[in-house]
Amino acid sequence: REQPVRREADGTFVVSTYREVQALLHDPRFSNDRRKLASEYAGKIPPDEASGGSFIRTDPPEHDRLRRIVTRQFGPPHRPTRIADLEPDLERIVTALIDGFADRHQVDIVADLAYPFPVAVICDLLGVPAEDEPRFREWVDPIVDSISQLTPDRVAKRDSATRDLGAYLNGLAEQRRRNPGPDMLSGLVTDDGPEGRLDDQQLISGLMLLLVAGHETTVNLIANGTLTLLRHPQWLERLRQDPESSIRVVEELLRYEPSVQFLPDRTCVADIEIAGMTVPKGAPLTLMLAAANRDPAHVRDPDVFDPDRDDNEHLGFGSATHYCFGAPLARLEAQIALTQIAQRLADLRLVEDPPPYRPSPVLRGPIHLPVT
Ligand code: HEM
Repeated sequence: REQPVRREADGTFVVSTYREVQALLHDPRFSNDRRKLASEYAGKIPPDEASGGSFIRTDPPEHDRLRRIVTRQFGPPHRPTRIADLEPDLERIVTALIDGFADRHQVDIVADLAYPFPVAVICDLLGVPAEDEPRFREWVDPIVDSISQLTPDRVAKRDSATRDLGAYLNGLAEQRRRNPGPDMLSGLVTDDGPEGRLDDQQLISGLMLLLVAGHETTVNLIANGTLTLLRHPQWLERLRQDPESSIRVVEELLRYEPSVQFLPDRTCVADIEIAGMTVPKGAPLTLMLAAANRDPAHVRDPDVFDPDRDDNEHLGFGSATHYCFGAPLARLEAQIALTQIAQRLADLRLVEDPPPYRPSPVLRGPIHLPVT
């Protein structure tokens, strides 16, 4: 209310109100490309991004071309026409994971369900062999944990994980060039669509983006969702009786407890006047999605978890150019997981509240969620 845009001591402009965040996301002068930061902020550019990052870190028109090439492989001819067609497969994976809870007094919703489920799905869609999945946590976690927390130790771990994951993906891409299958990776390395192919660097950074984005965000949505439902048992009961309410529950979770809390290290390619303040060209900008989602000027009783609300225009998946590519998949995964949790796990109880959280301030979610 008092300071929609705030300048931090390090020169970063932090924007926290719905109207201003939304306006920036739709402003053509707003940029996700860290190479457009003013020279004094060059330290924020990871080494692998110096010659171009993945399409989440690229501005239009190049962004749009890269995103279209990848989107093309997310649909036919390699994969189902619509994400909704994946529903039976997704149900089967969740059913098998929850079957594994039988006879166990305590389970960890993160390790035993929220993590293995979306990871199995994204690896299968991309064409990563199931036996390699366990290696991914070691690579993806340091990359995610370094976002916006660039301590020397985290940077070293991130750089080594990025190198190892890159080398693994290069090897897999080479294999698919020789021996293509019905997966997205094979499509990306063999199919010349109307806009051509990704070059080697674009391919690896695009695959990393999908793996990172398809891993931790949905894990956190399912874990935050389970925790929120356990704190609001009337909604757990409603979900038990009416699986259709999972649509409303998941949308409210994306507003109330979004896994992506803020978008760091954005900038602008010209001076921008916003809420009476001038943000100079090249200054770092951080957009607080989670705060905008709870802006009292935009949504009634913002701190109340109410899936029945009629004023939920959340920014949990961002907006405009970089609107989340995986939103339909993430929604479906969370709806299925939370419905099965409600329907199959009676008398579920939290072992600790609050649970321990992962260190990344950007991606919010418990690192473990033990329940009995
Ligand atoms: C972009 C959130 C799941 C792939 C984004 C953005 C947000 C977001 C906020 C916008 C970033 C920006 O404006 O710079 C989430 C949340 C998820 C989720 C909360 C789960 C609950 C997924 C999944 C995938 C995915 C499952 C992959 C299948 C992407 C990609 C982008 C993106 C590729 C970049 C799009 C672009 O630059 O055009 N996501 N995401 N996300 N997301 Fe997600």
